[in-house]
Amino acid sequence: MKEKKQNNILELFKPYVPKAVTARILEGKGSLPSERSEATIIFIDIRGFTKLADQLDPEKATEIISNVFEPIVGIIDKYDGCINKFLGDGLMAIFGTPFSHEDDPERAARASLEIMKSIEENGKIKIGSKVKELKARIGINTGLCISGEIGSDSRKEFTVIGDTVNLSSRLQANAIPGKILIGEKTFHRIKDNFIISYPRKLKIKGKKDLVSVYTLKGEKKKISFLEQKKNSHSPFMGRQKELLVLKEALKKSYQSKGQLIEISGELGIGKSRLILELTKESLAKEFNILSGNCSSWEESKPYAPLKEIFTKIFGIKFDDNLKEIEKKIDNKIEEIDSSLLFASSYFSGLLSSKIKSLEEIIEQSKKESNLFIGAMKKLLFSFSFKKPLIIIIEDVQWIDDASMEFLIQCSKELKEYPILSICSFRGSINKKESIIEAKKIKLAPLKNAETDKLIRFLIKENDIYKFTREKINTTANGNPLFIEEIIKGIEVKKLSADKDKPGNYEEIFNNFQIPDTVQSIARARIDLLPAGLKVILYQASVLGRYIEIELLQKITNLEVKILAEMMKKLQKHEFIEETEGMLQPQKYFAFTHSLIQEIAYNSLLFKTRKNLHNKTGSVMEEMYLSKIDEKIEELAYHFKNSDDNKKAIFYLNKAGDKAQSLYAFSNAVNYFQSCTDILETSEPENEQLTQFSEIYNKLAYSQSIIGERKEAEINLNKALKCCKKIGDKDNESLVLMSMGNLYGDMGQWDKAIEYFKNCLSITDRISNLKRKASILKGIGLACLFKGDTSTGYSYLKESINICKEIKALDVYAMALNNVGIYYDMLGRWENAIEAYKESISIAKKIKNIIVISNIMNNIGFAYSSLGESKQAIYYLKKSVKIADKIGDIYNKGINYIHLGEEYLKKDEFKEVKYYIFHAEKIFDELNDKLGLADVYRLKAKLLKKLKRWKDSEIFFKKAIKIYSKFGDKINEGESYYEWGDMSFFKKDADSARKRLTKSKKILGSIGAKKYLAEIEDKLDNLRK
Ligand SMILES: Nc1ncnc2c1ncn2[C@@H]1O[C@H](COP(=O)(O)OP(=O)(O)OP(=O)(O)O)[C@@H](O)[C@H]1O
Ligand SMILES: [Mg+2]
Repeated sequence: MKEKKQNNILELFKPYVPKAVTARILEGKGSLPSERSEATIIFIDIRGFTKLADQLDPEKATEIISNVFEPIVGIIDKYDGCINKFLGDGLMAIFGTPFSHEDDPERAARASLEIMKSIEENGKIKIGSKVKELKARIGINTGLCISGEIGSDSRKEFTVIGDTVNLSSRLQANAIPGKILIGEKTFHRIKDNFIISYPRKLKIKGKKDLVSVYTLKGEKKKISFLEQKKNSHSPFMGRQKELLVLKEALKKSYQSKGQLIEISGELGIGKSRLILELTKESLAKEFNILSGNCSSWEESKPYAPLKEIFTKIFGIKFDDNLKEIEKKIDNKIEEIDSSLLFASSYFSGLLSSKIKSLEEIIEQSKKESNLFIGAMKKLLFSFSFKKPLIIIIEDVQWIDDASMEFLIQCSKELKEYPILSICSFRGSINKKESIIEAKKIKLAPLKNAETDKLIRFLIKENDIYKFTREKINTTANGNPLFIEEIIKGIEVKKLSADKDKPGNYEEIFNNFQIPDTVQSIARARIDLLPAGLKVILYQASVLGRYIEIELLQKITNLEVKILAEMMKKLQKHEFIEETEGMLQPQKYFAFTHSLIQEIAYNSLLFKTRKNLHNKTGSVMEEMYLSKIDEKIEELAYHFKNSDDNKKAIFYLNKAGDKAQSLYAFSNAVNYFQSCTDILETSEPENEQLTQFSEIYNKLAYSQSIIGERKEAEINLNKALKCCKKIGDKDNESLVLMSMGNLYGDMGQWDKAIEYFKNCLSITDRISNLKRKASILKGIGLACLFKGDTSTGYSYLKESINICKEIKALDVYAMALNNVGIYYDMLGRWENAIEAYKESISIAKKIKNIIVISNIMNNIGFAYSSLGESKQAIYYLKKSVKIADKIGDIYNKGINYIHLGEEYLKKDEFKEVKYYIFHAEKIFDELNDKLGLADVYRLKAKLLKKLKRWKDSEIFFKKAIKIYSKFGDKINEGESYYEWGDMSFFKKDADSARKRLTKSKKILGSIGAKKYLAEIEDKLDNLRK
């Protein structure tokens, strides 16, 4: 009777055996080999259960079974254990074989505790009026077992046998209901994380000696092992002085005295940690904390860290589409500072990656990069008035050029806002990346006592601490990352020691060798990983510091579940951790420290590395098909480091376009240059030549903007050669236009006109009217500056006619502006003002505020020439106001110089000095040499008026040196004239003759006629 009932119950259990478990055992493997391995065995017995079930009707019995057993099965499955047998009143489960985890004993313990709790909750059974409470007894033991498939061929069964299993069963039998008894070895493996009673000695059936047994009472901490590790840091040691400096700065920033602090020091010395500690201060809660990271693989990616910061400000999510992004940006700018709405397209460009063509960019103001930076700056400043800001930029040694420019510009104005900006910087401070204005904190190694305290905390085991502390202290040399890495290494050693000889550490740790750099200790730790895990770590390192799991899965071709398992293991070894990112879709992993990523990456063979980059790039192309533009820089990085030159060129080129669209011209130069570097390694095929000429042209354009004009000239010639070879007229005309613009910028008007004219004849053939208008406008201006005013005017008129016809308002506004310049040159100031005002009204229509402020400036100039000083100053100041509003400090600087000149005419020297001072500050900030030359020239003119000849001469020389270097002939020539005029005035005939002749020669070479009559006059005079 009893026999029958039991079988019946077993049948009922069957559905609860997790399918995954059986499936995994059976899956494809055929048979599992027998092996000796360590396992942890649990026996669970629910006392009286069968008896109870006997008394009930089958339906009720089934219900109880599902209430009580289903959770048990679920719990064991959750910890990845394997139910092996159902016994009369209970079951046996195995942890550690056939699937092992490093923490199997902990898993078994945790599962047992949960099972106890679950039975307590679900095991109250009503029989009639009485309530019967079910109670379990559990035994756990860890040790060597023999596992495998046992039985006849027809009925094979996976099981484990051995002493360990027997003892586990005995422990269960000896437990009192509601308790968990564990054996010696299990105790050693789990004691750090669980509450366990003192041992008792027990006589166990079948054992000669008494056995130590322990009662497992609970977990030390409620959180799981993995969660406990996550975000847990060593206690913070020392650094009190540095923290004080930071706290002081925090206080000052809070009172709107903005601060910039640069923290530098070697790898792992604790820069990031120090910043983290500051953010825990109570005052820091009053701040909005924004942070952005720079990374070695993003050195060229424009505004990489700022992208993170603005994503946060605008609340943009990974899967927002362009419309949503634009809306969020507009709303937020409206809320923060509506005068910056003009810049929302800059921001949407930054955050959504729209790409503009070269032709579009050329038509915009070249100084737009300053404007963009200005807008970002202003937005942050205005934002700080809502709530003070802490802006953290980490790892500035890898910052991209555009972001650096931003930082430098910000650093000078921070002082007036409630902003604390902190940069961390690996290495010594004297590098170019260092920001002059910043207060510097250099992190030294921890002191001996601090190191010792840290070691004491991290090594829980007294013995190991005793044996190793001194060695760690001397080797790590006060570098906390080094200390942590050494101790992680010790942990690994300890774990393997625990398996063999628990508690016996002297032998191992007395002769413990520590490699002498943090790199080698971390490498050694990586080397200890099982081969499979190591490979995953290496492959992940190609992705950079952050690991997107889906991407890694596709690169490794591993099953999702298996990869997840491996990641968990790597996480447990503290090579990686889970984090959450804003730019990423879901949770993702990151290397715990960049050091690990760097080491893993550097361990890859060059060939493997190339292959992995190639694979990563290809997988990314597929994965991000619909959002590929957002991954351009990453793709460029991967293909650049692969063998696939074609794709490298393709993406580097696109990344350059993207940088150019953001006016990040230095970054663009980097990308395009990488591109041409690859191009030039082989002879191009004809079908590539169009692409080549485009790339050279774009490279040249960006170079000309950042002042590399000689290089630009060379590259434009290369571009020209490419299109000529294949007769690509469209591109040829574009290149010729660029050449015209370049020579125009250099004041070489004849050459500019020559190229523009060549360009015009081709453009006519390809009938591109807008381009034609643009070129005509260019020729017109060149002719004006050359002094050929009437020809210039007729070109401008022609350009205007086309613009009207095709409604190209942007070119139209500029052409009208040039007409104004024409009248200006003729001395017809009223007409000039009229043209300027008309130009403004068009610019207003297309909301081009940049052009507006430029033209205001010109109007001011015209009034100045008219002698209407009041009006002149009015317009110049208005222009300053607009420039200020939109953060266009370049234009502000230019206006300051004009204002200075205006006041110089009126002999109001105090004002002149004021404007000189501020203009110089601005151009210094912008590192704009030509702007500085203008300042020097004004200074020279002021000193000339004050009759301080010697000083004046010094500044004329300084200005001329710059003009000449940049090929700015008109300013160079005019400065020589002004200098010569001074010599003439003080009757230094030799000097006068020399400067005037030079001026005549330079101005003559570009056909500028403005001062020629005066020069001839004076030279004549000198001859007499
Ligand atoms: N004063 C400290 N007390 C205790 N632990 C510290 C201290 N400073 C740093 N650490 C720990 O040392 C490790 C390395 O520190 P951190 O990441 O701050 O270095 P870092 O200087 O930013 O390195 P990197 O140059 O790579 O950015 C971290 O795990 C950190 O928690
Ligand atoms: Mg750091």
